[in-house]
Amino acid sequence: MSVAFVTGSAIRIGRATARALAEAGFDLALHAHGSADKLAPLKAELEQRGRTVHCFTGDLATEDGVSALARAVANRFPALDALVHNAGIFERVAFGDITRAQYRRTMAINLDAPFFLTQGLLPQLRAAPSPCVVHVTDIGGERALSHYAHYGVSKAGLLMLTRQLAVELAPHVRVNAVSPGTVAFPEDFTPEQRASVLRRVPLAREGTVEDIARAVVFLVTAAPYVTGQVLAVDGGRSAAL
Ligand SMILES: NC(=O)c1ccc[n+]([C@@H]2O[C@H](COP(=O)([O-])OP(=O)(O)OC[C@H]3O[C@@H](n4cnc5c(N)ncnc54)[C@H](OP(=O)(O)O)[C@@H]3O)[C@@H](O)[C@H]2O)c1
Repeated sequence: MSVAFVTGSAIRIGRATARALAEAGFDLALHAHGSADKLAPLKAELEQRGRTVHCFTGDLATEDGVSALARAVANRFPALDALVHNAGIFERVAFGDITRAQYRRTMAINLDAPFFLTQGLLPQLRAAPSPCVVHVTDIGGERALSHYAHYGVSKAGLLMLTRQLAVELAPHVRVNAVSPGTVAFPEDFTPEQRASVLRRVPLAREGTVEDIARAVVFLVTAAPYVTGQVLAVDGGRSAAL
């Protein structure tokens, strides 16, 4: 049975991705930090569908947390068929007000954690017959969004890591990225803010978590000749001027 490890899989995009990978036939390594209480119901749900599921917790903001998580997953799974780096933080701060601590935390969770988790799990990826890594990035990693300088830089780094690892880990390990546009508006968005975003989306709706999950499953299961690529799932927003 193939195994997929999804970071931040207790809620939203990560949970939808875990569900979609389970539906595609994968056993799951689930992970959470602050939402760890939501892992048990998801585990039970996926086990009801006949999957084997193991839960892991860990703070991806710290070097020790990342190392311990890699060790725990490696100890449980000798081979990993899919590694989906979904966990990330998105914090609105004006450039002039971003503190060193805020900058470091965003870089640690959004970029350092994927970098060193993949490094820590390389033997397990190499032990799988056709392994695939997917980074969940953001169209904001290629275009600027005001008040998110640290976030945009972290996601731009993740896009470069996608290309770098696609080249360096080839031919055995494929590495791709899914770049969401707006998926499920933040709860504090006003109707005016929502309308202003949707005016720039050719498909005229926000994305769903399932839209992103389907793209991840496609890259993992149906794209054996695709590596180093970034699939925007944004309703066409990044195609428009
Ligand atoms: N939603 C969007 O519109 C959108 C758009 C573009 C890109 N994205 C990207 O898609 C991914 C998922 O987004 P989302 O909206 O579903 O996420 P979200 O609701 O903001 O949740 C963030 C995820 O990251 C995990 N996480 C945060 N801090 C962590 C830490 N210190 N240690 C371990 N895990 C941590 C959370 O796990 P816990 O809750 O368990 O801590 C949670 O699973 C992110 O990488 C985000 O940048 C989202």
